[in-house]
Amino acid sequence: MPDTLENKYLSDSHDLLSLPPGQSGLVEWKCPSNIALIKYWGKKPVQRPLNPSLSFSLMNSVTTMTVDYQTIKEQRQLSLEFLMENKPNQAFAERVFHYLNHISQYLPFLRSLHLRIQSQNSFPHSAGIASSASSYGALALALCSIEQLLFGTLENEDEFFQKSSFLARLGSGSACRSVYGGWTIWGYTPTIHGSSDEAAISMTRSIHPVFKDYCDSVLVVSSGQKSVTSSIGHALMEQHPFASGRISQANYNLEKLIQALVRGDENRFIDIIENEALTLHGLMLSSNPGFVLLQPNTIEIINKIIVFRKNTGLSVSFTLDAGANVHVLYPAAIENEIRLFIEKDLRKYCENDWIIHDRVGSGPVKSEQL
Ligand code: PMV
Repeated sequence: MPDTLENKYLSDSHDLLSLPPGQSGLVEWKCPSNIALIKYWGKKPVQRPLNPSLSFSLMNSVTTMTVDYQTIKEQRQLSLEFLMENKPNQAFAERVFHYLNHISQYLPFLRSLHLRIQSQNSFPHSAGIASSASSYGALALALCSIEQLLFGTLENEDEFFQKSSFLARLGSGSACRSVYGGWTIWGYTPTIHGSSDEAAISMTRSIHPVFKDYCDSVLVVSSGQKSVTSSIGHALMEQHPFASGRISQANYNLEKLIQALVRGDENRFIDIIENEALTLHGLMLSSNPGFVLLQPNTIEIINKIIVFRKNTGLSVSFTLDAGANVHVLYPAAIENEIRLFIEKDLRKYCENDWIIHDRVGSGPVKSEQL
């Protein structure tokens, strides 16, 4: 019995080799992006996290990935056409080609297919919403659907999503959390049964109702290219003097956050998620070399949220991704009050008044009857 998913998929791959030529089809998945509350920051080979993370999938910010496939006689290497927002995109095509090549060890039939992949996002680029999470999530789901159509090997729903999560992770770590709706955990932690560095697991069932439709308004402070990419940031954790402290903190915060999510304890929730957001940027500041992704308006917004919460007692909080934009989080029950606050006090800090309203979503959807 293989002890890891990696070994299982490698040993299963012998059964996914021989394809009769002339088969073709079309699959399409819509997959959401996600926002992490316990942050994944730092990795070990291959694309495994230094610490466990927890996120929720968004409702409106999705990538639609449409994949046409055709088996080619005697073909032994990948053949790819890639369109982004209906246009060829060389840079993305190369990344996807490289990714497909890497994962073809788990899906060897890819080398006998011609693929035409079209990718479309419901949200603008550089809005501070991770399109790599939704894109690799959608692509991995589509590839697993093709495996199922051609070989019938992923009939079992749990196995289907587990393999999709495993494959999405190899594109972008945080993408493995996007193949599930609601609340999701990625990374092994001793207190959570089934948690794994290789694939994410869903924890939506045990969540208190107040967190099931939590709102996330993304305040776009800057849509510009980041000065330091996430890949570089992850790599800087390798020699980071605070790495072991960070790993203990993330495991501790995760355990406490899960308790808060199950009990519906919003005060505890706020303490933990804001600590995580500030820690993420603290790790960037204290890397060598250090770097700053926060901008003056990021700090203005954070301070305004803290004062507003103190004055009103309303459960509004913030989290940050690896960038300057602020995700404002609040329960659906106080949506009107918080929207007013955002309009009155926060919109002025956004680039071109740019705000994207989103919330916890129910996860990826496969298009039927194409
Ligand atoms: O999946 P990556 O390599 O884009 O890294 C994501 C890192 C954070 O967004 C900062 C945190 C997270 O857990 O999503």
